[in-house]
Amino acid sequence: MTFEATCTAPVNIAVVKYWGKRDTSLILPTNSSLSVTLSQDQLHSKTTIRASADFVSDRLWLNGIEESITSNKRLVACLRETRALRTKIEAEDASAPKLAHLNIHICSENNFPTAAGLASSASGYACLVYTLSKLFQLPLDASDLSIVARQGSGSACRSLFGGFVAWEMGERADGADSKAVQIAPETHWPDLQALICVVSDEKKGTSSTEGMQLTVKTSPLLQERIKNVVPQRMDEMIAAIKDKDFPKFAELTMRDSNQFHAVCLDTYPPIFYMNDISRAIIRIITEYNRDGIKAAYTYDAGPNAVIYAPAANMAEIYSLLSHYFPGAAFDDSLGLLNNAAAPTTL
Ligand code: PMV
Repeated sequence: MTFEATCTAPVNIAVVKYWGKRDTSLILPTNSSLSVTLSQDQLHSKTTIRASADFVSDRLWLNGIEESITSNKRLVACLRETRALRTKIEAEDASAPKLAHLNIHICSENNFPTAAGLASSASGYACLVYTLSKLFQLPLDASDLSIVARQGSGSACRSLFGGFVAWEMGERADGADSKAVQIAPETHWPDLQALICVVSDEKKGTSSTEGMQLTVKTSPLLQERIKNVVPQRMDEMIAAIKDKDFPKFAELTMRDSNQFHAVCLDTYPPIFYMNDISRAIIRIITEYNRDGIKAAYTYDAGPNAVIYAPAANMAEIYSLLSHYFPGAAFDDSLGLLNNAAAPTTL
């Protein structure tokens, strides 16, 4: 007998950044974070998982190319956790189909460049865990699933929800309270849009895993950020989102992106994720905001900009950026995205 599930999951872009782990195997962060989930129309991961008694081993294909499962500890952790939950269901209900012991084939693809600082690991692991939960019919809500997805990639836990999502860092050593919660649904602030500016689609030089551990070890500024900045910033960001206060949301978003990249510079040896084009975009947006805040930039662990702005400003921002970077810099990778919903079963 063969069992199958196919799902899609969205990308999320943080406005209060996660950077630093207090436990590297459970993926427990040194600070809470907050993100906006982006539309699945343009950017998403899509995963099909099949379980069958005919399969002789677990296998994985990423964007059409087979990859080893056993060498990927995080993927192994997500499989182990979801299989353990299925085993419990089968032990408690003798009529439940026996799935937990079957080998599975996983086929996953992104409709955008992988590992180019566009949060492909977030949508990828959220999609993997969501699809496993459908295959194994696990009675878990999105917060429960976020605890499993977090062990694939930290930021993935936030892609289990649409809209505005916080990852609460938690306090427990076993990670049971380090989970995602929805701050507001995707219908809350439809006027807020995101523009992705693909400055470069090359794979990043320093992975987020390597980068954040070096920062934890060497940056005194990170200690200041996690103790004295992020706790208050989380509260202010949640209030700005609830009030749909764009100038406040934008200021906090830009300050947080700036501090994340300052912390990277404070790492020894320093890590650079932004390039000259990234910094030029910051100058353009700063100038554009001179008489009142109309747009916010943010950068993850790569040079690509995400611009958040009210819908009415987007055409102007698009033409401003196209004027300074005609053609090549953004070409047709430039996308306009509404904030969007949670993973979907196909
Ligand atoms: O989940 P990771 O290991 O890919 O880390 C993501 C870190 C940032 O994207 C830079 C910030 C964030 O909160 O998403």
